[in-house]
Amino acid sequence: MVTAAGHRASDLVYRGHRVVPGKPAIEGLPATYVEDPAEAETLVVTLEDEHHGLRVELHYTLFAAHAAIAQHAVLSNIGQGPLVVERAMSACSAFPGREFSLLRLAGAWGRERGIECTPLGQGLQAIESRRGASGHQLNPFFALTRCGASEEHGEVFGFSLVYSGNHLSQVEVADDDTVRAMIGLGSFDFAWTLAPDERFATPEAVLVHSPAGLGPMSRTYHRLYRTRLCRGSWRDRSRPVLINNWEATYFDFTPGKVVAIAREAAAIGVELFVLDDGWFGKRDDNRSGLGDWLVNEDKLPGGLVSLAGRIAEEGLRFGLWFEPEMISPDSELYLTHPDWCIHIPGRRRSESRFQLVLDLIRSEVREYLVERLGAILSSAPIDYVKWDFNRNLTEMGSVALEPERQREFPHRYMLGLYQILETLTRRFDHILWESCSGGGGRFDPGMLHYMPQTWTSDNTDAVCRLGIQYGTSLVYPLSSMGSHVSAVPNHQVKRSTPLASRAHTALFGTFGYELDLTSEHEDARRASARHVALFKRHAELIHGGELFRLRSPFANGPGDGNETSWMVVAPERDRALLFWSRVLQPANPAARLLALRGLDPAADYRVTPVDQPEAAVTRTGAYLMRAGLRLPEAVSGDFLSRLWAIERA
Ligand code: DGJ
Repeated sequence: MVTAAGHRASDLVYRGHRVVPGKPAIEGLPATYVEDPAEAETLVVTLEDEHHGLRVELHYTLFAAHAAIAQHAVLSNIGQGPLVVERAMSACSAFPGREFSLLRLAGAWGRERGIECTPLGQGLQAIESRRGASGHQLNPFFALTRCGASEEHGEVFGFSLVYSGNHLSQVEVADDDTVRAMIGLGSFDFAWTLAPDERFATPEAVLVHSPAGLGPMSRTYHRLYRTRLCRGSWRDRSRPVLINNWEATYFDFTPGKVVAIAREAAAIGVELFVLDDGWFGKRDDNRSGLGDWLVNEDKLPGGLVSLAGRIAEEGLRFGLWFEPEMISPDSELYLTHPDWCIHIPGRRRSESRFQLVLDLIRSEVREYLVERLGAILSSAPIDYVKWDFNRNLTEMGSVALEPERQREFPHRYMLGLYQILETLTRRFDHILWESCSGGGGRFDPGMLHYMPQTWTSDNTDAVCRLGIQYGTSLVYPLSSMGSHVSAVPNHQVKRSTPLASRAHTALFGTFGYELDLTSEHEDARRASARHVALFKRHAELIHGGELFRLRSPFANGPGDGNETSWMVVAPERDRALLFWSRVLQPANPAARLLALRGLDPAADYRVTPVDQPEAAVTRTGAYLMRAGLRLPEAVSGDFLSRLWAIERA
């Protein structure tokens, strides 16, 4: 914080505190919430620096049903002159002793949210995004894990930021071994002028402590985010099995082709057809058309009403792709409003994927998007929207901001986006909204507040998905993870994996298809019908159950990264679904036992291999968790997976 006189040092003094029932909303920002004031209590601590005229209110919400603390700060200018906030962090915790590792979710496009864990060293270590989006690279999350902590042992502290733009997490080990951990907006391209009487709220941070490893931390995040971060009519409902035409046709589709795919999809039990990129404006490849949100009647005669009607005749509901935040230089919108994109007058406008980003801090741009999308969504029976975002922000600045406020741009962009999402998702609450950013480039709690699911990654290869989904599950619930079965050889990595492995991996998410079913063999379609039925049978368990990770694709432990395993257990512990997968076939594999978790030790369970019901066994929960389930020895081949349905006998 800097005063008009250029002074930076501040001296915040305790002025008082209050405890309020429930959890007040944070204006303009996504956050966890309560439905009844009895669900939480919020402590508000007030600090003041009289000399500078700064008041800071620190908000801490404790939930009755979740072992989590939601934190944010509100800064107010109570003085006479302007103040400039130069860095805004949402939470800061100090720990004595440095015997921690720093766990982060790191990666890139196509390999999002891999788990990296490194011992803390003296000085600063940071996790940051400067891209104007939370990013494929470093998720707005980290955990401090006591050295030696694992899935079920050791102390873990999780920090997660409910935000979708630039972020900074910083862990500092001081010379006396004190560890100071912070998460928030950071200072890159950020400065916010607070005029007298103005307030600024930071995004919310959600902190979770687990005395018993990463598993309980994840389950706390899952329950809280599934039930009190996500919202809307789809929050508590099992998601429809969908088919998306992107990898089936890319831009090259006709109504006939689309309806033929929908027909085959209906035959295997799919419930929703999603028309991806290319249905609007002049958009036959990725070089043009973004911003022109009017159906291309040359490509789709009769428009969306006709197409949605034909899809409905096949028995499927209809969904649509948008990339609302973007504008193609080759578009009608750009011809009319060349200044609507983010740019610095007189400088080159850097394109990525041949597109620019709209300046969402301008009210006329936000109004255009709400009007255009609203018109399309009201024009036809549309039950699902995929909201894509395929590039990052560059040359940030806006003609709508005074020179001294230009560094407010990245955060104001997010506030503009959140305002649009608030308006549209509330107005079209019947729609199932899924966010996407070139796959999982904005898989964060901010987007999940408005849209209860996110396309996890553009990489649909079953082997890559093991790591991507496993890492994502550290924070995010299975109900939020978009996961589809795609064709082989896989379009991203060219690998061919068995259909069952692709389906088994995709089952632990929202489940859907992303391939041309009309060109699949009859056997594959019959098997897919069984997979769809399997998902529907277990959808409630998968989306509402508790996740226990058993073998890590990243680990050096049992399975050595070659095996991945997890299971979902119903809250009543009467049912579970177990997944095990092995990437490469070892020579002469040793007999192996897989210790399960989350069951009732005293109960008897019937454990049935889904593809081999005659091999079912009955064991006690104690046996399954202490001795374990014998893994199949007779299976051979690479990229294999198995599923077991577990039921209280
Ligand atoms: C990126 C998304 O991740 C894909 O699924 C697809 O929707 C394309 N964009 C369309 O341009």
